[in-house]
Parts: sequence; structure tokens; C-alpha cells
Amino acid sequence: MDRDIVLELTASAWEGPFAPEEQAAALSGLEAGRVLFLPRLGFQPAAVERTLLAPGALDDTRKNISLDPATGRLHGTALAGVERERLAAMLDRFGRQATALLHGLLPRYAPLLERARTSFRPAEIAGRQAAPRQDDTRLHVDAFPTRPMRGRRILRVFANIAPDGAARDWRVGENFADFAQAFLPRVRAGLPGQGWLMQRLGLTRGRRAPYDFLMLGLHDAGKLDEGYQARAPRTAVSFPSGTVWLCYTDSVLHAAIAGHCALEQTFHLPVTAMARPEQAPLRVLERLAGRQLA
Ligand SMILES: [Fe+2]
Repeated sequence: MDRDIVLELTASAWEGPFAPEEQAAALSGLEAGRVLFLPRLGFQPAAVERTLLAPGALDDTRKNISLDPATGRLHGTALAGVERERLAAMLDRFGRQATALLHGLLPRYAPLLERARTSFRPAEIAGRQAAPRQDDTRLHVDAFPTRPMRGRRILRVFANIAPDGAARDWRVGENFADFAQAFLPRVRAGLPGQGWLMQRLGLTRGRRAPYDFLMLGLHDAGKLDEGYQARAPRTAVSFPSGTVWLCYTDSVLHAAIAGHCALEQTFHLPVTAMARPEQAPLRVLERLAGRQLA
């Protein structure tokens, strides 16, 4: 693995303990845009959960199954009854372990870290058809049309639990500031009142700030630029089955190329919780745009 892009950590338990040097390295590496890789840490499905680790768990229309921790509800699954409850319990266990990991590894974040959705991604990525905007095999930073972040960070913890041992293959692209500088002139921050109107119409949960329009614009412009997708710098990173990794997916340019059966826990974090908030996409875009964006 490329050491500039991936920082390997030796932790082998979700709850730690973590040495102060490991905590410091994790914090600065993560905020600088590196992927933290924990090859000795894994999520262990129970015997009764292993039968659920198949694409048949998905309903026909979805690529992910998600658990909303606020309601305990599972979305996107074809499973019913006891199997559905088992899958929800497995996702919740992973979410709690991921939370414990971040609290131990990144104690600075703990008071302001918000656990968002947990997802299970059973389907094979390679060969899947998707419209360019939805195609996550293209390099992108995460930004979601219905979920305005207003500058808050998107931090995601992943675990590869493929029962057949298949790796999850990513490509990691250039640093966020270079990407943003190239694409920002092509994107718009939304019209006056547009964020308010979209919220009123129920198109977004919460109100988009100029930051959200710009991040969605960067996401779309990057994915739709065939030349960029063909020629942009990238590094192959492969996560074996039985490992865990995490990164800020709103600033790390990433593409998921192959693999199946991953778990993912999303966290949201205010920029003010960061040790170096100037590295947040919000602050990078504000410097480039010369104005406040959230
Ligand atoms: Fe993504």
C-alpha cells in the first residue's frame, strides 16, 4: 500500500486500548486526507448471520441495505421476519463497534461525533450498471442530494466481510484542494432562495447551504468528466476480507471498483471538532471562493 495515501494501524480490538502516538497519528493522517487501514481488526458475523451475507438480502431496486439508528428501521432489504431482525441486529452491532473505535482512536471527536446510517453492501460492484452520476466506480467525493451537510464532515468506517475472501478494491485520487481548484469554476452555489425552496418542497432533509450546492456540483462534474475519469491520477488500494478502514469520504477522492459484502458506518462531525479545521472541504472551498459558504 502507498504510505502517502494509506496509514496502517496495528489496532486489533474495537475498544482499543490505543497508544497516544497511535491516536495522534490517526488524527493527523485522517484530517490530511489519508485512509486509515486496520488490517488486524475485523468484524465477525455470528454463525446465524452468515446466511444473510448474500445479494438475496437486497430488495430488487437497491444496492445497499441501511439501518437508521434513530428509528432502528432497516431499508432496502427483501428479508422479513426473524432474518430481517437478525440483519438489523448485525448492522447495529457493527455501528456500535465502529462508534467505540472512533471514540477510542479519536477521543477529540467523541463529544461531537454523530452516528448516522449504517449500511450493508452485499452486491458485487464489478460489472454493475449505473448512470454516471450514480456510478461509484468513478472517482468522486461523497455528497448526497437529499442530505445537506452545511459544511459538516462525512467520516465513514468500512469493514470487508466477504465470506469468500474477496478483496474490496478502491482507487484513491488526488488531494481535495487540487480537485476542487480544477472543477470549482464549473459549478454553481445555487440561486438565492433555492435551498429554502427545496426544503419546503420536501426535496431535502434540512436546508442546503451554498457549500452543499458546490459539493454536489463537484461530485457530478467530476463523475461526468470522461477525460478526468480516464486520466486523473489515482492509486490502487485493496482491502482484504476481514479488515477495516476509514476515511473522510467528503474529501478523499475515491472509487470502489470491485468487491461485495462490505459494512459501512457513516458519522457526521462539525468542522469545529477538527484539530485542523482548515483542512475541511468547507474551509478549502471558502478560500477558493473568497466567501463564507455555510
Ligand atoms: Fe463514495
